[in-house]
Amino acid sequence: MSENSKVRSRQLAAAPRGVGLMCDFYIDHAKNAEIWDTDGNRYIDFAGGIGVLNTGHLHPKVQAAVADQLQKFSHTCFNVVPYELYAQVAEKINARAPIDGDKRTMFVSAGAEAVENAVKIARAYTKRRGVIAFNGAFHGRTNLTMGLTGKVLPYKVDFGPFPGDIIHAPYPNALRGVSVEDALAGMEQIFKCHIAASDVAAIIIEVIQGEGGFNITPNEFLQALRKIADDNGIVLIFDEVQSGFARTGKLFATEYTPVRPDLITIAKSLAGGFPLSGVVAKPTS
Ligand SMILES: Cc1ncc(COP(=O)(O)O)c(C=O)c1O
Repeated sequence: MSENSKVRSRQLAAAPRGVGLMCDFYIDHAKNAEIWDTDGNRYIDFAGGIGVLNTGHLHPKVQAAVADQLQKFSHTCFNVVPYELYAQVAEKINARAPIDGDKRTMFVSAGAEAVENAVKIARAYTKRRGVIAFNGAFHGRTNLTMGLTGKVLPYKVDFGPFPGDIIHAPYPNALRGVSVEDALAGMEQIFKCHIAASDVAAIIIEVIQGEGGFNITPNEFLQALRKIADDNGIVLIFDEVQSGFARTGKLFATEYTPVRPDLITIAKSLAGGFPLSGVVAKPTS
């Protein structure tokens, strides 16, 4: 029996079937863009942990930074005992994030947690309840972010009920026959039939949809969303969890458009394989 098959039988006996697997082999070690499995086979890693390893497996600078940190401390809960690194990373992100004017960055652990916090920030700031997300969007696997996700299979089936006050609008996708005009007509319908614009806290969109099929959101649609947000006091959130940190060539996918959001969610390749996410935002005053 191969080492891969042995591990597979142990996993099936010890862990639930609900934890889905895409590969039938198990990783032993990795370097840059390559993976070696427990039987010694070598693979090119085209997935990179789904956009988490844009600098490759075990980039020497990431490895050195982690090794150095492990000589000092591993965890304090920042709210209990803060540390300087938080400010250092926030300063670096603020210097590069494509949001107009002054910026602030907060950190959490997973992409879904960043999205949850972005929605909380928008709701607390506007004192409104509604959130508009888009068909085909993916925002995470927690209850709120599953609710925001606009793709039923495989993410939502069997897992409801989802939180209220989330409305999905058509996403402009020429491949699926939805033009920018159709998508904007969909937004109008939402304000007529589902929720008043004055009750909407946030519009959340991926500048480039990832799980939805690598769809680039047309610039004119982003421009129209910016205007709708400005005209109605709505917070515009760009979810850059997957498209950020040079996944598209530039540090943020937002850099391909002149449109600037109020909040950006970040995660994945931000920390080169370690769990870190965040929300970049304009300060309120
Ligand atoms: C656009 C987007 N938002 C949010 C998430 C959720 O991130 P995480 O899996 O780290 O919770 C993902 C994950 O793929 C994503 O692609």
